[in-house]
Amino acid sequence: MRTIVSRLINSRSSVSRLSAITASGNGRYLSTDSNKVDEPLKVEEAETVNVPPPPSEKLLVLGGNGFVGSHICREALDRGLTVASLSRSGRSSLRDSWATNVIWHQGNLLSSDSWKEALDGVTAVISCVGGFGSNSYMYKINGTANINAIRAASEKGVKRFVYISAADSGVANYLLQGYYEGKRAAETELLTRYPYGGVILRPGFIYGTRTVGGMKLPLGVIGSPMEMVLQHAKPLSQLPLVGPLFTPPVNVTVVAKVAVRAATDPVFPPGIVDVHGILRYSQKSR
Ligand SMILES: NC(=O)c1ccc[n+]([C@@H]2O[C@H](COP(=O)([O-])OP(=O)(O)OC[C@H]3O[C@@H](n4cnc5c(N)ncnc54)[C@H](OP(=O)(O)O)[C@@H]3O)[C@@H](O)[C@H]2O)c1
Repeated sequence: MRTIVSRLINSRSSVSRLSAITASGNGRYLSTDSNKVDEPLKVEEAETVNVPPPPSEKLLVLGGNGFVGSHICREALDRGLTVASLSRSGRSSLRDSWATNVIWHQGNLLSSDSWKEALDGVTAVISCVGGFGSNSYMYKINGTANINAIRAASEKGVKRFVYISAADSGVANYLLQGYYEGKRAAETELLTRYPYGGVILRPGFIYGTRTVGGMKLPLGVIGSPMEMVLQHAKPLSQLPLVGPLFTPPVNVTVVAKVAVRAATDPVFPPGIVDVHGILRYSQKSR
């Protein structure tokens, strides 16, 4: 990008003024003495110099080909961001036209360092990486994989990092121990590495249209009416053990909107946002 640098010439004392500008090196600073003039400065001519372009916003979505990740990519493209995704299978089965505007990287957060190149030039990361399986697998995919990503992003100077975590599920926490221990370990790493630019979203059940093997499954049939009823049951959701059963489900487009805002708005407060906070932020950004 080229920036215009003005050459300031005073009609009476142009020689002394120009020498003061030159002495400042690049002309950005003017000496106070030489500013003591009777007449205002005039811009008589301009010249151009090459300076680096301002950094544009580039978002990397980890797991951008998944259910939540694909909605996040779409929302970010709608907002004019440059969007990249990283996952083990790359673009995978997404056929939608918007998907051609995403830069697809293939890589495994649990393997060698080659995937770290995907972080080059990135200003914010949103991680949707997570999954189920044996306890040790769940710890790795929800915990270790995200911890690797958080460390690499902070070492590369990425400014903001949003992690899609999960609300406690009460009794199910014991059955899905690896899942929740992994989530909480990744959260701790994020809060440590990103005290100012780290945001953790903790939704309960997320509903919307999930693409499975090219087919679109409308999960809203269950989720939407439950959300209507349960978003007014906040006190019940705080009951020990059974409380999480009253956590309202949330629409995937709402999660995507809040995640993109958290990744790009420098005044979005860092820390943990529960499902009620997610619903509140989405109403504010309408
Ligand atoms: N869906 C819900 O109701 C819900 C509720 C609460 C919280 N969450 C959380 O929200 C996040 C997204 O959920 P989702 O339903 O969208 O899951 P999903 O569809 O299974 O997406 C997970 C993504 O992670 C990628 N991935 C997995 N392991 C990876 C690795 N080692 N390296 C790179 N990429 C990897 C997967 O792509 P590849 O397989 O191609 O690698 C996929 O894109 C998860 O953390 C989940 O725990 C979901």
